[in-house]
Amino acid sequence: MIHKVTLIPGDGIGPEVINATVRVLEATGVKFEWETHQAGADAYAKTKQYIPKELYESVERTRLGLKGPVTTPIAGGFASINVTLRKKFELFANFRPIRNLPNIKTNYPGIDLVIVRENTEGEYSGIEHEVVPGVVESLKIITEKASTRIARFAFDYARRDHRKKIHAIHKANIMKLTDGLFLRCCRDTAEIYPDIQYAEHIVDNTCMQLVTNPYQYDVMVMENLYGDIISDLCAGFVGGLGLVPGANLGHECAIFEAVHGSAPDIAGKDLANPTAVMQSAVLMLRHIGETAAAERMHAALQRVYSEGKKTTRDIGGKSGTSEFADAVIQALETSKEPAGAGR
Ligand code: NAI
Repeated sequence: MIHKVTLIPGDGIGPEVINATVRVLEATGVKFEWETHQAGADAYAKTKQYIPKELYESVERTRLGLKGPVTTPIAGGFASINVTLRKKFELFANFRPIRNLPNIKTNYPGIDLVIVRENTEGEYSGIEHEVVPGVVESLKIITEKASTRIARFAFDYARRDHRKKIHAIHKANIMKLTDGLFLRCCRDTAEIYPDIQYAEHIVDNTCMQLVTNPYQYDVMVMENLYGDIISDLCAGFVGGLGLVPGANLGHECAIFEAVHGSAPDIAGKDLANPTAVMQSAVLMLRHIGETAAAERMHAALQRVYSEGKKTTRDIGGKSGTSEFADAVIQALETSKEPAGAGR
C-alpha cells in the first residue's frame, strides 16, 4: 500500500527537520507518495496566497499531513497558517505526549504526561477589532460542542491507553462564563467515565504545580491558549522544544507537527534537532496503521539517544540535523538484521 501524504515543509528550520524526517520515514520501508506544498510567506511570494488552494485540495484528498513550522508575523500581517489549517479541517484535538528520551539529563527524569489541547477556538478564534482608537477587543469563543468534543477525546484516549487520571485546566474563577462552560463540559464528560479519575486545577496554580511536582499529572485537558503555553513549559522537562511531538487530530483528517516553531535563530545552519518532527512521524505511522514501522522508528530514535554519540547541540551534542538523521537511519537498518548479525 502507498500512503499519500500532504507534506508542508514550512519555513525557518522547517525544511531541514522535515527533510531529515522524510529520509527516515522512507528508510522504514513504508511506501509514501508525498504531495509537497508551501504555506505562509514563501507560498505568498510564489502564488499570492498564504495557503494555496492546491494545499487545501491536497489535504482534502489525502486526509493526512506532515507539517514543518511556519513563521507567523507578530502584531500584524497574515493570520497564523497553523490556526487556519486546524480550523479549516476541524483538527480539534492537539495531542502532545511529553516523555523523556534516554540519556538526556534534565531535572525531571521519568516524565510521562499527555497534553490534550482544544485546537479550534478560545482566544485563538481570531476575532479582534478596534472599538475606538486606543481600545481593542478580542473575543474568546467557547462552545459546548467543542468543549465536550475535546473532553470526550481526552477521556477516550485515557481509557484506550490505560491512563488513570485527567486534570481539566481552567481559569473559571475569573472567566466564569467561558471557562465555566469548558469546565462544565469536562465535568459532565467525567461522569460518563467513572473508571478514570478526574480533577480540576486553575491554570496559574498548574504552572507552579508542574515545576514543583509534574508527576501528579497524567492526562491534562485544556483550552487552546493554555495548551499552547503549557506545552512549551512541559517541553522544558524533557530537554526542550527540539524533542516534543504533536498531532492535530480531527474526525476526517490529521496533520502531524512538532510543538516547536520555525526557530529563525538557528535556521539554515544544520543545527535544528529533527527529533520532535520524527516523533510526530512515529505518531503518524501509528495513526495510519503502520504499527511495526512506528515501533521500529521509535526504537531507532531510542537507540541513537541511548548510545548518545550522535545528538544535536540543543541537548549538548555535536551533530548536525543531517548527521542525526543518518544515525537514526543506520539504527533502523541494523534493527532489520537478524539477531546476532554483524557480531
Ligand atoms: P520556536 O519554537 O521557533 O523557538 C524557541 C526556541 O527553541 C529557540 O531558541 C529555538 O532555537 C529553539 N528550538 C525550537 N525548535 C528547535 C529544534 N527543533 N531544535 C533545536 N532548537 C529548537 O519559538 P519562537 O521563536 O517563539 O517562534 C518562531 C516562529 O515560529 C514564530 O513566528 C511563531 O509564530 C512560529 N511558530 C510556529 C509554530 C507552528 O508552525 N506550528 C508553532 C510555534 C511557533
